[in-house]
Amino acid sequence: MSYLEIRDLQKRYTKNGPLIVDHINVSIEKGEFIVFLGPSGCGKTTTIRMISGLEEVTGGDILVDGQSIIHKLPRDRGVSMIFQSYAIWPHMTVYDNIAYPLKLQKVPKKEIDERVREAARATEIEQLLKRYPAQMSGGQRQRVAVSRAIVVKPKLFLMDEPLSNLDAKLRVTMRTELKRIHTEQGSTSIFVTHDQSEAMSIADRIMIMYKGNIEQVGTPMEVYQDSATRFVAEFIGTPPTNFLDAKIEQEEGFLWAAGDGFRYRVPQRLASAVEPYAGREIDLGIRPEFMDVSPDMTRTDAYLCDLHVDFVEPQGSHAILITRIGSKEIKVHTVEHMNLTPGADVSCNIRKDMVMFFDKETGKRVR
Ligand SMILES: Nc1ncnc2c1ncn2[C@@H]1O[C@H](COP(=O)(O)OP(=O)(O)OP(=O)(O)O)[C@@H](O)[C@H]1O
Ligand SMILES: [Mg+2]
Repeated sequence: MSYLEIRDLQKRYTKNGPLIVDHINVSIEKGEFIVFLGPSGCGKTTTIRMISGLEEVTGGDILVDGQSIIHKLPRDRGVSMIFQSYAIWPHMTVYDNIAYPLKLQKVPKKEIDERVREAARATEIEQLLKRYPAQMSGGQRQRVAVSRAIVVKPKLFLMDEPLSNLDAKLRVTMRTELKRIHTEQGSTSIFVTHDQSEAMSIADRIMIMYKGNIEQVGTPMEVYQDSATRFVAEFIGTPPTNFLDAKIEQEEGFLWAAGDGFRYRVPQRLASAVEPYAGREIDLGIRPEFMDVSPDMTRTDAYLCDLHVDFVEPQGSHAILITRIGSKEIKVHTVEHMNLTPGADVSCNIRKDMVMFFDKETGKRVR
């Protein structure tokens, strides 16, 4: 059994209201850093609050070390939580803010002092212990919130969008810090965000949620390379996956995915999975990074179509081309952009046949 087991977890806020969390099942290992990722309103905060005990569960169970915790008070669960708003007290010094949870636990004064200093050292705010929150920057306040959470040496460290009040640059620095602290402290961590690049960069595993359900749980590379659903393929990666409406046709002994402005030979490895769709519609997903384009390209077996470049968005190391296939706007990630300008005509092959097919009705990957 894993360290934290979430079984058939459900939540309704009102008796006959909608299921906000709909049968969530996930196992989290000791020491793991797992990220709950999903769009606004999908139930991330609700789920993490049920784990912390701030919200009652409607159904299912949560086990830590094999023991159900759902009937325990929040303070008896061994969890620490950091909120989006930090929730540090303005009338207390940094020292007193960090010491507060230990005072509640009636820890002896000398030990409190040692642990406060240790937590402040871990977050590099030792020199700020006498200050008040109003005298500090957002990033420093964030560190106080982190110190106060780690000072209790929680079994479970829960963070609900802890970086969302920080500017873009500080977010990136602080997420690395949080990961470092996690590694040093070894506590099991759950981190909530709706920012996919934040999730990708810090998670051991990502649990992707949509409308109260789990779409996929996997390592960052798994959810990117092996997206289980159309939703995941669209949510993970920037720019997002391009989708084309295709019809599967059987011709010349091959299967083809054809639609408005393109015709693509279904790769051999996917032929048996795609064959049942012959004569029917399917969603074809192509990541912008796997579209090889150039004006003088030889068509390969993985040829998709010709493209007319409408706009070029230079990003320094690469560029994003804005183009169309049929009437659909498509984005292409290219490093061969030095001689590509708006108005250019190019051919497009799919690199390594990296395409994904999705069932139109269920949104599930066809593979
Ligand atoms: N106390 C409440 N009473 C009734 N409905 C609620 C309550 N709290 C949240 N909800 C609803 O539950 C759904 C999920 O909310 P939740 O806060 O868990 O989403 P979230 O994934 O954390 O979103 P965000 O990224 O915006 O923070 C939303 O539709 C929200 O309106
Ligand atoms: Mg939330």
